[in-house]
Amino acid sequence: MVNVSVLGAAGGIGQPLSLLLKTNEQVGVLKLYDIVNVPGVAADLSHVNTNSTVYSYLGSEKLGEALEGADIVIIPAGVPRKPGMTRDDLFKINAGIVRDLAVGIAKTCPKAFVLVISNPVNSTVPIVCEILKKYGVFDPKRVFGVTTLDVVRASRFIRDVIPDVDSFATSVPVIGGHSGNTIVPLLSAVQPKVQLTETQIEEITHRIQFGGDEVVKAKDGAGSATLSMAYAASRFANSLIKAFSGALVIEPTYISLDADPKNASIVRNLGAGDLQYFAVPVRLGTNGVEEIVPLPPVSKFEAKAIEVAVGALSENIVAGTKFVQ
Ligand code: NAI
Repeated sequence: MVNVSVLGAAGGIGQPLSLLLKTNEQVGVLKLYDIVNVPGVAADLSHVNTNSTVYSYLGSEKLGEALEGADIVIIPAGVPRKPGMTRDDLFKINAGIVRDLAVGIAKTCPKAFVLVISNPVNSTVPIVCEILKKYGVFDPKRVFGVTTLDVVRASRFIRDVIPDVDSFATSVPVIGGHSGNTIVPLLSAVQPKVQLTETQIEEITHRIQFGGDEVVKAKDGAGSATLSMAYAASRFANSLIKAFSGALVIEPTYISLDADPKNASIVRNLGAGDLQYFAVPVRLGTNGVEEIVPLPPVSKFEAKAIEVAVGALSENIVAGTKFVQ
């Protein structure tokens, strides 16, 4: 059985994510932490008749207790975007929130697997890693930026263009980062293979990169993706939990490339250069990242997109790293 702590559990993502985690029978303890409203969320969820036990922790003085014994910590705490904002605009508020939560993890459950949802993921993952390094407990195999929503969107958007594709069974490697043009879907490597025209490739790529904006615009000031994000984060958490018991599971995720120095060189040769963090398909296992899955050669269009992504990503990584240093 796995103990999971959700930090920011009363929010738009936190609530449906906690519900989905409550339905996973491998979860034994579900600890919900927030600075507002979390007792009600926990009381409500605790009536769902699965075997996990739900606990609630309200306020920063309860962070330690919320993290005690956690195998997996999921962080959707922070503010979401409003129309016209980029994910980088969130840095000012979310960087500090994520830093403080990472300090709690370093002190209380340094061996936990940490799943970072709070944006800008391109910077918040380096923040978590730098804090864990400061405390001497960093393991690059255990910290993940959750980019699953990009992958979920990618397989769904392909079906919007080719209706006989089984979206659920379609796998699309999405690499790079998690914002705008740092998101690089490799449509040439979709499995099972699909035939797309050049125009379709350009349009789907753009839609995957900026799909979040569709939701922000439609919600008109009431936030960003929450339901699809909760689905995506629970898929990643469920994949990790399945991998603990030996299943072969591959998920793209934004990680420190130190997690697998051998295969990191393949990613670097694709154009990632000397970037420290990059989203890549990863084989998950009992240690977290077991292996960066080697990628096939990319198309010219994708190579160009990687080049563009690397410039923006590099700035995001420096911002996150400097924030802690
Ligand atoms: P929300 O505002 O609905 O919920 C955030 C929750 O975090 C609130 O309940 C709030 O009280 C809590 N919170 C704030 N400061 C906290 C602290 N110091 N400790 C614990 N909890 C704290 O926002 P929503 O829509 O749930 O989004 C959360 C984050 O997820 C945002 O940063 C958003 O940009 C990001 N996001 C990430 C995606 C991804 O693909 N990785 C996709 C969509 C959103």
